[in-house]
Amino acid sequence: MTHDPRQLRDAFGAFLTGVTVVTTFNAEGQPIGFTANSFTSVSLDPPLLLVCLAKTSRNYAAVTEAAGFAVNILSEAQKDVSNTFARPVEDRFAAVDWQRGPFGSPVFSSVAAWFDCATHSVIDAGDHAILIGRVEAFENSGLTGLGYARGGYFLPALADKVLISGQDMPQVLGAVAERDGAVLLTETADGGLALPALELGAGDGVDALAAHLVSLSGLPVQPGLVYSIYEDTRARRQHVIYRATLGDGAATGGVFFPVEALPLERIADGATRDVLKRYAAEQSLGNFGVYVGNQERGRVHAQPVRS
Ligand SMILES: Cc1cc2nc3c(=O)[nH]c(=O)nc-3n(C[C@H](O)[C@H](O)[C@H](O)COP(=O)(O)O)c2cc1C
Repeated sequence: MTHDPRQLRDAFGAFLTGVTVVTTFNAEGQPIGFTANSFTSVSLDPPLLLVCLAKTSRNYAAVTEAAGFAVNILSEAQKDVSNTFARPVEDRFAAVDWQRGPFGSPVFSSVAAWFDCATHSVIDAGDHAILIGRVEAFENSGLTGLGYARGGYFLPALADKVLISGQDMPQVLGAVAERDGAVLLTETADGGLALPALELGAGDGVDALAAHLVSLSGLPVQPGLVYSIYEDTRARRQHVIYRATLGDGAATGGVFFPVEALPLERIADGATRDVLKRYAAEQSLGNFGVYVGNQERGRVHAQPVRS
C-alpha cells in the first residue's frame, strides 16, 4: 500500500490516549525523558508494559541500551510537562518535581501513576523500537490522567463534571471560534450578535458543536478545549463554551470580528459579553483559563500551560 504518512498519522491520532513521559538515565548519569502516548499495558503476570520510541529520538541509543526506564502517566494538570518533554528544551527535568524510583529511573510527583521498570526487551519495529518493560515498582495516585486525541489535549474529569452537573437542565454548547485574531459571531433575529451555539438534543455529543460550526461557517473546524461552563439560573440552561479554530476560506455564515474590536454593544446577553471580554484579554496574553460558575459569579481556573 502506498499512503501519505501525514494522513496515516492523523488516522492513528483518532485513537484517544493518555500521555506519559518515559524516563531513564544516560551513560553520563543525566536524567533523560520524552513524551509518549504509545503506552500500552501488556501482561499482569509477569507484569509487562510497552512504549514505542522513534529511531529519530536524540536519546534513542541511551534509552534502548538502558537497564531500565520509568513510565510516568501524566495527570490532568501536567500538560506543560507533556509539552516540555516533547520539545527541544535544554533542561526538561527543571520543569518537574522528580526523584529516583525504587528501581532507579526518574519518577515524577503529581502524576496519575508511575511504573519503574527493568528493560525486558527492545523489539525493532520499522521506524520505532518497542520497549517492553517489566514493572519492578509502581504507584497509583488516583488522579485523573491527561487525555490526548487528534493532536490536542483534553481533560476527562472536567468533561465528566460538565455532563453530570448538566443533567437536570438543557445544555447549550457554544464556541469562541477564532481565525487569525478574529472571532466568528452570528446575527440574531433582532439584529444583535451571539456566539455560535446549539441546544443539545438527546443523544447529541460534543461533536454536534463541531458539526454545527461547519454547517454554519462552511469552514474546516478544529475543536479546542473547554473555555467556560456556567449555569444560567434564570433561563435554566447550562452553557458549555469551547474554543475552536476555523480554517481558511470564505465563511458562508456568521461574521468575523477582530478580537480587539468586538462589537460588545450589539451582544444582548451579559454572560456572552463576559466570555468575550475575558477571551480578548486572555488571547492577548496567549494564556486561557476555564470559567466555572453561573451567569454572574464564578471562578476562572488557570490552565497551567499555554497550548
Ligand atoms: C502527546 C505526544 C505523544 C508522543 N508520543 C510519542 C511516542 O509514543 N514515541 C515517540 O518516540 N515520540 C513521541 N512523541 C514525540 C516525542 O515526545 C518528541 O519527539 C521528543 O522531542 C523526543 O525527544 P528526544 O528526541 O529528545 O528523545 C510524542 C509527542 C507528544 C506531544
